[in-house]
Amino acid sequence: MKRLSQSPTDPAFVQNPYPFYDTARQYGDLVYWEDYGLIAAVSHRAVHTLLRDRRFGREAPPECAGIGPDHLAPWRAVEAQSMLELEPPRHTRLRSLVMRAFTSRAIAALSPSIEQLCHDLISAFPAEPFDLLPAYCTQIPVITICQLLGVPENMAPQLLNWSHAMVAMYQANRTRQTEDAAVKATQEFTAFLTDYIEKRRNNPRDDLITRLIAAEEDGDKLSRDELITTCILLLNAGHEATVHAIGNGVKTILTTATQAQVMTPGTLDGLIEELLRFDPPLHMFTRYAYEPVELFGHRFARGDQVALLLGAANRDPAVWPKPDHFDPLRKTSANTSFGGGLHFCVGAPLARLEMRLALTILFDRCPNLKFAENPAYSNSYHFHGLTGLRVAT
Ligand code: HEM
Repeated sequence: MKRLSQSPTDPAFVQNPYPFYDTARQYGDLVYWEDYGLIAAVSHRAVHTLLRDRRFGREAPPECAGIGPDHLAPWRAVEAQSMLELEPPRHTRLRSLVMRAFTSRAIAALSPSIEQLCHDLISAFPAEPFDLLPAYCTQIPVITICQLLGVPENMAPQLLNWSHAMVAMYQANRTRQTEDAAVKATQEFTAFLTDYIEKRRNNPRDDLITRLIAAEEDGDKLSRDELITTCILLLNAGHEATVHAIGNGVKTILTTATQAQVMTPGTLDGLIEELLRFDPPLHMFTRYAYEPVELFGHRFARGDQVALLLGAANRDPAVWPKPDHFDPLRKTSANTSFGGGLHFCVGAPLARLEMRLALTILFDRCPNLKFAENPAYSNSYHFHGLTGLRVAT
C-alpha cells in the first residue's frame, strides 16, 4: 500500500485538502496516511463500503479500548454513553429513542419557526460589512436545536462555548490545554443538564427532553447518564457541522456566482446535495475492524483502525464527472457527507431543511450579497469550516 505524508495542520492543506485526496486516490482505494499512522479509505467505493460493513464499527474492541489518562476521565465517562461511540445493541436502543423526534414529519413541522428566525436575523444585519458566520450561519442551527430539545434559547451562547471546547478534542493539533478545557466544559454541561432535567421532570412539554425524560422514567429504556450524554450529543452535533455547511455553502455560491434560479423548488434539493458533496464540513471519521477482513487488496486484522475520508470520496471522478467542478444541476448520486450505514447522521433531514431555508431566504432578501474579505478555513482538519465570513449586503 502506498504510504503518503501530509500534515493535517499544514495551512495549505487545511485551506484546500482536495489536491491531496486526488493524489491519494491515484494509488488506489486505500493509502497509508503516515501523519495519522492510519490506513485511509480515499475512493468513494471504499468509503461507501466501509461505512456499511458490519465487520467494522466505531466502538473500540475491548482489548484496544485502553484506559486513557486520569485527567480525561470525566470526558470519557460522557463519551462512553454516546450512541456515536457505540455499536448494537446499545446503539440501537439509544438511536431508536431519538429517531422518533427526527421523522420527516416532525422536522417539516419546524419549517415556520426556522423561516421566521432567518427573517429576524436578516432584518438585524448591519448596513456596514459584517461576519455572517456568527450573525446568521451559527444562530440558525443552535437556536433550532435548543427549540427541538426544549432548552432555553438564551442558553445558546453558553452551549456554543461548551460545545466548541468539547469537539476540539477531535482536532489534529490537540494539546493538554485543549483537554483541560474539554473536561471543564463537560463537567459544566453535565451539571447544567442534571439540574435542568430535574426542573423539567414535573413540567412536561412537547419537546425532545420531555420524551427522553419519560424514557428514563420508564426504567430500562434509558439510564440517567445516557439521558445526559444524549442531550449533550444532540446539542453539540445539532449545530457544529450545520454552521459550517451553511458557511461553506454561502462561500461556494458566491465564489461560483451561482444564480438565484437554482434556488427554486425544482432545483433546490440538487443544489443542497451538490453543496454538501463539493465542500462538506466533516472530512474524516474512523472505524475499527472487529475481525480479520480482506478488502480492496488489504488484510485488516481485528483492532486495526481505518480513516474514512468523506471529503475525498465526494470528489471521486469514478462517481462524479469533473468532480472539482461545482454543478448544482448535476444528477448527484449519494454523497458521503452524512456518513452511511448504522451511524448515518440522525440530523440529516434537519440539516438539509436548515440549509434550504437559510440559503434561499438569505439570497432572496440579500440579492447583492458579496464578500467583504476573502474567507479562510480554520486550521482544524476535522471541522472543515471558515474562521469568518465577512460580507456586505
Ligand atoms: C450538515 C450538517 C451535518 C453533517 C455534515 C453531519 C454529518 C454526520 C456524519 C458524517 C455522521 C456519521 C459519523 C460516522 O459515521 O462516524 C453523523 C452522525 C450523527 N449526527 Fe450529524 N451531521 C450534520 C448535522 C447534524 C444535526 C443537525 C444533528 C442533530 C441533531 C446531527 C446529529 C447526529 C448524531 C446524533 C449522529 C450519531 C448517529 C449515530 O451514531 O447513530 N447531525 N453526522
